Amino acid sequence: MARVAAVTGAASGIGLGVAKQFVADGYQVALLDLDGPGVKVAAEELRAAGAAVASAEVDVADRDSVRAAFDQIRSELGPVEILVTSAGIENFTAVLDITDEAWDRLLAVNLTGTFACIQAALPDMLAAGWGRIVTISSQSAQSGAPSMAHYSASKGGVIALTKALAVELARQGVTVNTVSPSLVDTPMARKAEAAGEFIGVDVVAPMVPLGRAGTPADIAAACSYLCGEGGSYITGQLIGVNGGMYI
Ligand SMILES: NC(=O)c1ccc[n+]([C@@H]2O[C@H](COP(=O)([O-])OP(=O)(O)OC[C@H]3O[C@@H](n4cnc5c(N)ncnc54)[C@H](O)[C@@H]3O)[C@@H](O)[C@H]2O)c1
Repeated sequence: MARVAAVTGAASGIGLGVAKQFVADGYQVALLDLDGPGVKVAAEELRAAGAAVASAEVDVADRDSVRAAFDQIRSELGPVEILVTSAGIENFTAVLDITDEAWDRLLAVNLTGTFACIQAALPDMLAAGWGRIVTISSQSAQSGAPSMAHYSASKGGVIALTKALAVELARQGVTVNTVSPSLVDTPMARKAEAAGEFIGVDVVAPMVPLGRAGTPADIAAACSYLCGEGGSYITGQLIGVNGGMYI
């Protein structure tokens, strides 16, 4: 049987792009998302095209929910050997206005949620002596970003978590890398634009050295490479898929 790849945040944007790419790569794919109806629809569309997929509603910030979702996909598809953690939220708030609740939720979803999903999937990889983990970080953690102290801190944590686990797990056949996007045209970016929190995808796109916004497929291509045969000697790396925005 084909390997099982789990993708969080798979109802939308980058996660959905990665799920589609993994289907094309021939994996069985588990789509996980807080948006239960959305992830079900995405899975049904892929299944209708002949893919072996499962879907589960999950709040990555809730450990019980994460455990239950991974148990469910494991029982439907088998042990999880590939994991991409794309579930995430963003928020634009000046530092003095960031509430305790906003700080805690950003960290809980983006950083602790990433950790919880890795912890839930890892035993399958260790049992197989083979695993591929790709986290999704952000350029904001490399360059800084105004009104994004909580978001940038959460993504900086994701980068450090990735490196720590790469070193810890290398001898057990598990690689751990992070893909760091800059501007990707997704519902997240368009929502921020519509809310007036961000000047806009089409305004920023010409400022990108490669002259356009990224697409979910751009990020998915890097995930595909890292999880495929070509990525077998790459671990602990941050791959900036950012059109040259941060070098
Ligand atoms: N779009 C960009 O420009 C950009 C840039 C850098 C990094 N990123 C990162 O890429 C990842 C994907 O972003 P996107 O642009 O595809 O956003 P998106 O909003 O289109 O998709 C994110 C998905 O995560 C899900 N999600 C949110 N909270 C969740 C939770 N608690 N549990 C489970 N699922 C949850 C949402 O329901 C949604 O389907 C995020 O981690 C984001 O921070 C995006």
